[in-house]
Amino acid sequence: MSEVHVIDHPLIQHKLTHLRKEDTGAKEFRELTDEIATLMAYEVTRDLPLKEIDIKTPVTETTAKVISGKKLAVVPILRAGLGMVDGVVDLIPTAKVGHIGLYRDPDSLEPVEYYCKMPTDIEARELIVVDPMLATGGTAEAALEFVKKRGASKIRFMCLVAAPEGIERLQVAHPDIDIYTAAVDEKLNDHAYIEPGLGDAGDRLYGTK
Ligand code: URA
Repeated sequence: MSEVHVIDHPLIQHKLTHLRKEDTGAKEFRELTDEIATLMAYEVTRDLPLKEIDIKTPVTETTAKVISGKKLAVVPILRAGLGMVDGVVDLIPTAKVGHIGLYRDPDSLEPVEYYCKMPTDIEARELIVVDPMLATGGTAEAALEFVKKRGASKIRFMCLVAAPEGIERLQVAHPDIDIYTAAVDEKLNDHAYIEPGLGDAGDRLYGTK
């Protein structure tokens, strides 16, 4: 079974509270999402392998640690996931960025991929798939399935707010993928919105409501 990492650093909790407030406008919402994504990326990458290299300080020669060439990629699920990309890439500038977009077929209700562009060396990269809200888990489950089909095998999923229902679904469907979230909220409401949540993350990021 995968692990759920709740990254509840005080700075993240403080920013998340402002993100939740209904009177937070799109500009501030984008800035807060970006900042939280950076702070979370710090924890998500905590176990990156290190190697020792020889260096010379002004005083003496020594060995010191650097990240051992691990290749990463950030993959936002369109559209709301885009709001988290810059925050992660600020911390990991060598990460490549893949994109995936899905819609639900109105007749079959099955998720259909409408866009997918991944780094060509996806098999060699560890992926951080990002989407602010893990609600029912349907979109995340399908997106993770699609990136696995393209060759990704080491994947982490990072969101800002998760519902217990979405966590359970993702853990059953993808027991190999750890989930990183800033909060686990109470439940989904009848419209599949997370409660208390923060509303529609895409609309709030892009001012489309
Ligand atoms: N997507 C959102 O943006 N918000 C929710 O509460 C649920 C899904």
